[in-house]
Formats: sequence, structure tokens, C-alpha cells
Amino acid sequence: MPLVDMRDLLAHARRHRYAVGAFDLVGLEFLEGILRGAERAAAPLILSVAESHFRHFDPELALAACVVAARRSPLPVAIHLDHGTDLEAVRRGIAHGCNGVMLDASHLPFADNVAHTRAAVELAHACGVPVEGELGYVAGVEGEDAELHPGEIRYTEPDEARRFVEATGVDFLAVSVGTVHGRLRGTPRLDLDRLAAIDRALGIPLVIHGGTGLAPEQYRALAERGVAKINYFTALADAAAATVRERAAEAEAGWLVLHREVREAIATETERACRMFGAAGRAAEALAACRPWREVMHLVLYRPRPGIAEAELAAMADEGRRRLAEVPGVREVFHGRRIAGRDDYPFGWVVRFAAPAVIDTYRHHPVHVAFADGRFRPLAPERLSLDLETW
Ligand code: 13P
Repeated sequence: MPLVDMRDLLAHARRHRYAVGAFDLVGLEFLEGILRGAERAAAPLILSVAESHFRHFDPELALAACVVAARRSPLPVAIHLDHGTDLEAVRRGIAHGCNGVMLDASHLPFADNVAHTRAAVELAHACGVPVEGELGYVAGVEGEDAELHPGEIRYTEPDEARRFVEATGVDFLAVSVGTVHGRLRGTPRLDLDRLAAIDRALGIPLVIHGGTGLAPEQYRALAERGVAKINYFTALADAAAATVRERAAEAEAGWLVLHREVREAIATETERACRMFGAAGRAAEALAACRPWREVMHLVLYRPRPGIAEAELAAMADEGRRRLAEVPGVREVFHGRRIAGRDDYPFGWVVRFAAPAVIDTYRHHPVHVAFADGRFRPLAPERLSLDLETW
């Protein structure tokens, strides 16, 4: 079950001076192609979904597929929310399966960026989930993803970056040192001295956005200066689109024919990227260095107060399912009746938490406290509760 803690994954990459590819997927063909390519390279992997792409697919469905894929992959895999815009996006990302999140407020003035990012760190850390922030601005230049990042590039200042990390508590920082989102025009010029100064000032894994289109020696130069994660999308999308365009020349080509080579094109490009990032062949040692990601099943069995009508219990359970699902770190809420056997506790809840840290967060969260004290416990005086860590 190599879904792993992204902190360990990126600490390993930074220590050994390579970068893990964080590949944005926009559908199942991307997911399968990315996995195939990373497996061929035996590279650790970050499956990434960008909020800016959510108009193209349903993130809840995509993340469910990512979780299945990560669990059955032999590679160490983390699942990341890319370019989250607000706290609700972060909460939903974690609820649907992310174990790393980005809050991107890099377009805002420093103080506002700090305030938004800090709030995301508080929410995510209460769920045991690490956070990436961004300081400086990585603009877009050309291509379908580029238009989502309007405006001019703004470079990250090392001293400001140090103050940002201290004030927010982010685990990883995305920096702007000359890359752009989308297709590059001309030869990219990277400010490597600036990057080295940021690395010295921070000592945490750095992230590069706009990973498409650099030369192999430039990826190596980034990794040598503390870049442990490289976001990569446009090259995958362009490789996929090229195969569709070629097939479209066949007058009779239907959907399946048009898409026949998409997965393989994405796999080839993913493998190439993993090799350029220095991540190829690192999967086994990275896996050994990473804590597995463990969810928690929170079980509450109960006996209702004598004389409570079944309809009253059903109404309480419906309300609980709805309200408790809003608590950060909660992934699913089930309520049910025991089928057979002993009848000491005939009803119960199973609440699936993203990580052990959620046990405390949930217990003290005002939504849970209000529901438990106001609705549930008065109907259920006899209760038995326990938390199971999955392994
Ligand atoms: P590219 O599309 O330039 O590879 O950038 C991807 C990215 O930074 C996603 O966050």
C-alpha cells in the first residue's frame, strides 16, 4: 500500500538532490499513462490535480481513482492538490484523498498571501497533511494551461521567502526563478544564484511550477539547489494531443481510435521527465525512507435510550452524516444497524479520517461537539468508541 507521507518523500529527494515529478492529470488516460511511465522509470511519484482544471473533470471521481492507483502501485506515491484557491478547496481535497495540498495566494500582496496560506496550514496540519505555499509569481506564456496564470513573472526574494515560511509554517515552497506555465518561447533563463540563496535561507524542499520545456542540465541544476518537486503538465497534454491529431486524419476514426495512443504518449513523456529530474531508479530507496500514509476508522457503537422511535434515530443519523462530513479531515461517514449477533450495541457509526491527527481535531471541532452533545448523546447514553489505524 505505498501511499506515502509527502514530507518524507520530498525530504528524501532533497537530501539526495533529485526532484519528484508532480504530474497534473485531467482524466483516467492521464492517470494510467503517468503511472505506467513512472513505473518504467522506477521513480517516486506525485499524482496531482489542479483546481484550475476542475471544469474539465470531477475531482472527487479523479481522486478516488488516484487513491486506488496509489494503493496498488509498487512506487511510493503521494496525492496532491495543485493550485488550491481557498480553504474550502483544501478541505475538499483532503476529504477526497489528497495527502498534500497547495494553497496558491501568490497573486496577492505579501501580507494577504501570508494570511491565506497560514489559515490553510492550520487546517491541513490539523489533518496531518503537509502544505505547499507559493511566493513570487510563475506566469503563463502560451498553451491551454498558460492562460490560467495571467500577468507578469515576479521572482522570489530569498529574505522575503524566509519570512514567509516562518510566518506561515508551510512544509514546501514553490518559488519563481524563471520558469513559466505552459509552452516556453525561446531558451529559458533560470536565476540559479537566486535559487541557491533561497535554498540556503530556507532549508526546506522547494517546488518548481512550469516544469515543461527546460533542458536536461537545467533540471539537474534545479535539483542540485534544493528543488525536490517539479510540476509538469503541458508536455503531457501536448504529447497526448499530437497522437489525437494524427489519428484524426483517418476519416472514419471514432473515439477509441482517436485516443488509442494517448496513454502510451503520456507514459513515454512521464518516463522521460522522471529520468531528467534524476528520479529514475529511486523508488525502492525512497519507499524505504517514507512513512506509509495511514487512515483511521473511528467507530462508535451505541444503544439508544429505551423508547426512542426508529424515525427519530433515522433523522438524527441523516443529520449526522451531513454535518460531520464537513469537519476537516473527515472522508466518509456511515451510520448503520448491526445485522446479527450480540445486541448490546445495536447501532453504530464508522467515520473515516484522513490520518491519525484527525482524531483530536474531530473530537474538539465545534461542528462535532454541537452534534454529539446536542443531537446524538442525548439519544444514545450507552456508547463504545474506538479508533483503528489502517495497515
Ligand atoms: P507546465 O504546464 O508548464 O508543465 O507547468 C505545470 C505546473 O506548474 C502545474 O502547477
